[in-house]
Amino acid sequence: MVNYADIIVDLQAGDTGKGKVAHSLAKKETEYTHIIRYNGGGNAGHTIYHNGVKYVTHFIPVGVIYGIKSIIGPGCVVNPNKLEEEIKELEKGGFKVRENLFIDKRVHIIKDEYLEEDSKDLKIGTTKTGNGPAYREKYNRTGLRAQDCKEISNYIIDIYEELYGKEDVKILFEGAQGFELDIDWGDYPYVTSSHCTVAGALQNGVPYNKVRKVYGVAKAYRTYVGNKKFEKPSEIFETIREIGKEYGATTGRPRQIDWFDLDSIKIAINVNGVTHIVINKLDVLESINTYHFIENNSLHLMATKEEFKNYIENNLKISCPSIKEVLFSETPYDI
Ligand code: IMP
Ligand code: MG
Repeated sequence: MVNYADIIVDLQAGDTGKGKVAHSLAKKETEYTHIIRYNGGGNAGHTIYHNGVKYVTHFIPVGVIYGIKSIIGPGCVVNPNKLEEEIKELEKGGFKVRENLFIDKRVHIIKDEYLEEDSKDLKIGTTKTGNGPAYREKYNRTGLRAQDCKEISNYIIDIYEELYGKEDVKILFEGAQGFELDIDWGDYPYVTSSHCTVAGALQNGVPYNKVRKVYGVAKAYRTYVGNKKFEKPSEIFETIREIGKEYGATTGRPRQIDWFDLDSIKIAINVNGVTHIVINKLDVLESINTYHFIENNSLHLMATKEEFKNYIENNLKISCPSIKEVLFSETPYDI
């Protein structure tokens, strides 16, 4: 039976450091029995530094690094060839990936022809990983499911049996993409094709009353990658992009930049019921010594890092009752 689940959600448009938060929590909270990816597919790029070595994962939950059972949940889509490449990459790091990786039988398969189709997209600026076509076929009820795909048969499980056939299951849900890319809550049509919210995580087999903590992850500024116009012309955004290395982990595209937006963060916190917010990469603002944020649609400026932190923390605690803790990452990528 499920004892509890902690859920990681991204409060912006992805690339906020969820992978790092998952990595850090899996290390700290050693009691997790399962780590579950709950949405998306090869479009995600989670950059993890483990013992000083960089790994970029797309499908595989971070649990494999610590020998924790890692499940690709039914909300996800998988490309079997790319998955095999990723397994081999992680095996080079000495991790026992094959022993700890499981794929729910309900997962949908990204077929080669979807890659071809997605590569022609000019409208959304997708990651060209076949994500959209795979979800389209799923919802059209014409998709191929993992249980009918021979290439990954070694990994197939029924997530229900795994979570409810055992005692004391303690889960960390590792999300992909983010609230601003959610198919329902994002800026449609400039969105991805899956649910990037707590609701999306629960759809993977855990009821609402088993949720213990919801970690909402954000960055101290905003980024977006895709075809809509997002960044306003300003040299300072160029600087942030370079210092923050804001280039896509999956596609290498430059990410567009904007200031931290309290208005949109609050919507994401409320809809997800965030209990712990982690604001990453404050060190990037520190290196340019400029602490801007947007509130009530207007731009504000704080004189110091402490003022910025205090203002954001107090403001969020007052206006979003679900918030218990506001954490800022001082050393990059760790909480
Ligand atoms: P798709 O998910 O590949 O269909 O892409 C749809 C939109 O979501 C595009 O704007 C992508 O750049 C964006 N996107 C998808 N996955 C990620 C991610 O993991 N990080 C950031 N942006 C993403
Ligand atoms: Mg990413």
